[in-house]
This record gives sequence, structure tokens and C-alpha cells, in this order.
Amino acid sequence: MKAEKNNIFSSFDEIVQKTEKEKILNQKGVTFWLTGLSGSGKTTIGALLEKKLIKNNIITALLDGDNIRVGISNNLSFSDSDRNENIRRISEVSKLFNFCGIVSINCFVSPFKASRKQAKEIIGENSFFEIFIDTPLSECEKRDVKGLYKKARTGEIKNFTGITSPFEAPENPAIRISTLNKSIEENVEELFNFVMPKIKLANDRL
Ligand code: ADX
Repeated sequence: MKAEKNNIFSSFDEIVQKTEKEKILNQKGVTFWLTGLSGSGKTTIGALLEKKLIKNNIITALLDGDNIRVGISNNLSFSDSDRNENIRRISEVSKLFNFCGIVSINCFVSPFKASRKQAKEIIGENSFFEIFIDTPLSECEKRDVKGLYKKARTGEIKNFTGITSPFEAPENPAIRISTLNKSIEENVEELFNFVMPKIKLANDRL
């Protein structure tokens, strides 16, 4: 009979490894982190990217304010420290998805360089791809889809990114999607072409 163990934690070689799960799904568990101003198009592009990936038999998780700030981060504000905590929690969630071989598409303003760096550290630098959805502030404010820029200008909303709170643009993103003067389909296509090789296993059947 096998010797009884006192340790409640399985030893490393008893845990099913990420690579085994990736093999079953025939994909790599990686995170695509879309950062950009409010109204820059992150969720629109992320959601269409997800549709395209699903059509290509890639299993994904789409994380954005709609499912995170009403759930796991529903006790957080938009103060600097709460934003950092928001990003930290999302990073931990993505890491769990990735460990199951699932591709995580994260759409968050994530305005601070330091917290995006922390996200990369948590998720692991080989599994993390920073994607800058680069839409100028003037354009985001002109669109003002949710009417939030107007409220930020009148002071009704405090700490609003781009107006009364900084957006620290990525200096060296894995890819920069410049949305101006391009259709959404073109932006999604550009991103799709970037992400697919990152998802494929070395000897893939995709
Ligand atoms: S983050 O800064 O913590 O990454 P997150 O992406 O979760 O932000 O949420 C941003 C969304 O919340 C914006 O698209 C906008 O709709 C809304 N929002 C509400 N208040 C603010 C604010 N003060 N700054 C930025 N976005 C805000």
C-alpha cells in the first residue's frame, strides 16, 4: 500500500500540467491584454476577435468591465489603488484560465504601466501579450458612447481616465492597433493575424 501522506498538497508531478490541457484543446493558454482609453474600442474589438477565434475552434474567455466590475471587482472604485487591485485580480483570474489552456481576452483601460507590468509578472511573460488599442482622446471624447466624458468634463465623474486621471500609454506593446480611419473589421483582422500564431501549438493541427 502506498505510504500515507501528511501533506495535503499534491507534489508537483501529481498535478496535471498546463501543457497536457493545452494538448487536449490543441491551443496555448495565453492572455491578450487590450489596454486603451474608455471608448477606444477595446471590448468591441475583443468581442469580435473572440467570435473569430471560436469559429477557428479556439476556446476563449472574454473579460471586461461588464463581467468583472459587477462581479469579482464589485467593491472597487476608480481610485488609483482600486484600479491596481482590479488589474491584479483580473491577472490572477486570467492565469487560472490560461492554466486550463484557455485563451483570455482582457479588455480593460488598465491605465498604469506599473500595474500592466505586474499583470505580465502574474500571468507570466511568455503568456502575456500587451495590445494597445490606440484611439486618440479627441476621438473617444467625440464618440462618447456612454456619455461619461461629458460627465467627466463637468466634474460629475471624478478621476476619469484621459481627463482627470492619467493614461500611461504602452511604450513597447506587442502590437499597437491604430483604430483611426480604419473599419472595425480591419482592426479585428489585424489583431486576429497577430494572435493566431501565438495560440498555435508548435506541432499544431489548426
Ligand atoms: S481600470 O482603470 O480599472 O482598468 P476598467 O477597464 O475596469 O478600468 O473600467 C473602465 C470603464 O469603467 C470605462 O470604460 C467606463 O465605462 C467606466 N468608468 C467609470 N468611471 C470611470 C473612471 N473614473 N475612469 C475610467 N473609466 C470609468
